[in-house]
Amino acid sequence: MIAEVKKLIMNSKKLVVLTGAGFSAESGIPTYRGTGGLWSKYDPSVYADINHFMRDSSYYWNFFRDERYPMIKKAKPNSAHIALVELYKRGKLFRLITQNIDGLHQLAGIPHVIELHGTTRSFRCMRCDNRFSMEEVHEKILDDFPPKCSCNGSLRPNTVMFGESLPQHALEESMLAAKKCDVFLVLGSSLVVYPAAYLPCIAKENNAHVVIVNIDPTPFDKQADAVLYKKASMFLEQLLL
Ligand code: APR
Repeated sequence: MIAEVKKLIMNSKKLVVLTGAGFSAESGIPTYRGTGGLWSKYDPSVYADINHFMRDSSYYWNFFRDERYPMIKKAKPNSAHIALVELYKRGKLFRLITQNIDGLHQLAGIPHVIELHGTTRSFRCMRCDNRFSMEEVHEKILDDFPPKCSCNGSLRPNTVMFGESLPQHALEESMLAAKKCDVFLVLGSSLVVYPAAYLPCIAKENNAHVVIVNIDPTPFDKQADAVLYKKASMFLEQLLL
């Protein structure tokens, strides 16, 4: 299987990759679902939902101060990120779409990443749209909880929370990439959150080959051309041999 998949990918003209939380798992960032997933400890309807955040943002800010910030600050690109940069350097990566908000693809060296769910590395004031880095907000939180802008507006992360629509430009660019690609490679996603999970369907409908590399089964496995239940890093290392 790996030999056929390797041939498919290395002969592709327009390879599009979609990564999910499984891709960053080996950087120490927990996935959301599956054993020990973040959402088994933190209820996403409380910690990652815009309506709850607007009613009471303290849950989010406690989670950001105590969990999210330390975890992202410590995280480094793992061997899967490095291998993907190698694929990019070999001119094999037409588009990279990620559901991840950790910015590790950019840190690893991919210049253009379509961040479908935004990024936790930057924040904005909901009143004046002033921008803040993750580090500035973490500083602020130490003596201003929840953190405020100098205009006294409240801050929020530049992530997409449940109950919000995705950034229009990112969504359009991803849909176009899924339509135009000849191989669509999913690495480390459960493919249960829409509209990201539509992308492999769109690729398939436009005659692309779909390959899924994920430790656990996904709802799209039956429609995919190839499914490998293995770590993204292991797969990419074998691909680049
Ligand atoms: N290599 C490959 N797959 C892995 C690895 C790994 N090293 N480690 C875990 N996995 C798989 C798990 O089996 C799981 O199916 O990665 C998948 C991660 O799934 P989720 O935790 O659901 O993450 P994701 O698909 O990115 O979730 C999508 O849901 O809550 C929202 O905004 C959040 O962007 C996230 C979206």
